[in-house]
Amino acid sequence: MISLLPVLLSFISLFAMIGKGKERLKEYQGSLEDMNNEAIEYIRGIPVVKTFNQSIYSFDKFYKSIMNYKENVLEYTYRLRMPMTMFQSLLNSIPIFLVLGGIFLINGAMDKTQFLINFMFYLFITPICNTMMRKVMWTSQDSLVAEDALDRVDELLAEKTLTYMKNNEKVNKYDIEIEDVFFKYPNAKNYAVDGVSMKIEENSTVALVGASGSGKSTMATLIARFWDAEKGSIKIGGVSVKDIPESELMKNVSFVFQNTNLYKMSILDNVREGRPDATVEEVMDALEAAQCMEIVDKLPNGIDTVVGEKGVYLSGGEGQRIALARGILKDAPIVLLDEATAFTDPENEHKIQLAFEKLTKNKTVLMIAHRLSTVQNADRIYLLENGKLVESGSHKSLVEDNGKYSSMWKEYQSAFVWKDSEVVVND
Ligand SMILES: Nc1ncnc2c1ncn2[C@@H]1O[C@H](COP(=O)(O)OP(=O)(O)OP(=O)(O)O)[C@@H](O)[C@H]1O
Ligand SMILES: [Mg+2]
Repeated sequence: MISLLPVLLSFISLFAMIGKGKERLKEYQGSLEDMNNEAIEYIRGIPVVKTFNQSIYSFDKFYKSIMNYKENVLEYTYRLRMPMTMFQSLLNSIPIFLVLGGIFLINGAMDKTQFLINFMFYLFITPICNTMMRKVMWTSQDSLVAEDALDRVDELLAEKTLTYMKNNEKVNKYDIEIEDVFFKYPNAKNYAVDGVSMKIEENSTVALVGASGSGKSTMATLIARFWDAEKGSIKIGGVSVKDIPESELMKNVSFVFQNTNLYKMSILDNVREGRPDATVEEVMDALEAAQCMEIVDKLPNGIDTVVGEKGVYLSGGEGQRIALARGILKDAPIVLLDEATAFTDPENEHKIQLAFEKLTKNKTVLMIAHRLSTVQNADRIYLLENGKLVESGSHKSLVEDNGKYSSMWKEYQSAFVWKDSEVVVND
């Protein structure tokens, strides 16, 4: 009984520790997550940091997140200092309690030998209490961490899923009608798409142009329903995208993203993502149509080369060409094409242009263009500014209107002429 007294007391300090820890653990884990996120952001930004010769301090957010984590660790540790010290001391004091208790009781014992044997027994058995209590402590801490992790998972699971009004609406026509659409990213202040209406006729090509951040990519993701518009409607073939089942929508829409993400698998499998049941010949045809044969030929194992493995890197332009092959293989009637921002190399640009043409032939196309050279042949051009549509029309009519597009065009042309003359000088 005497040796159990410190065990009882250590239990009390253990609960004090858990009680105090629980309220702080959430913040502690939160700051750890924050620091991890900022670290990733920092690593992504290293080229910028290097280019501008900056230090870690220039990444203010990362630095602050480290400091915040440090404060949390210290506070968490300081809070637990007293109960932890009590806990450890009590557990380690069991033999002292036992020896003192033994000295106190030995005189009253009838059979001294029996008493000593019992005493020895308790002396040997009490370290087990010690080990057990430590295990209880670590397990309690682990269960707190697990509880917190589950809370975080629950938060994610509580996110609203996309809802479908009426299921199983089929799409038979492929024109796209966008009516007065508003969309704001979660926690953003301004609308990324601010009251946009436009119509893309079946088998026509519409180009979206505008400054960086004007909402072009966002508009395209709304059509593929990566997000739901806050107000307004987006219809494909007269059916709201909210009524089209996900599989039906994905079957009919090909999306070539601005920043291509190829998976860490072979070129063959990467392209096959477009249509998983495609034969090798079909994949080869798509690669050829997307001007990728020269990329495939230079890879060590041809189309079986795994992207992202040691030494296998594709440039941005090459990656986008593989992504275009994926789109060509999928052969969906609607193509959303987010042109990669910059290819300075004219040969690559020319190849991409050829691949675009193959992909968009007889399709309903929304093309986001960063170079005005690619939009001249579009049936209609829409100019976005801060999420709002400011001008629309054919290239010819927009140039004649002498508006914003017209000045963008003039600027583009003068840059072009300047580049041309530079070539002449160099020659
Ligand atoms: N995932 C996101 N979360 C929050 N805000 C975002 C997100 N993506 C874009 N934004 C913001 O929405 C606005 C529109 O961005 P969007 O990517 O649509 O522009 P963009 O016209 O495609 O630009 P770019 O020409 O650089 O590709 C910008 O202000 C941008 O900062
Ligand atoms: Mg974009």
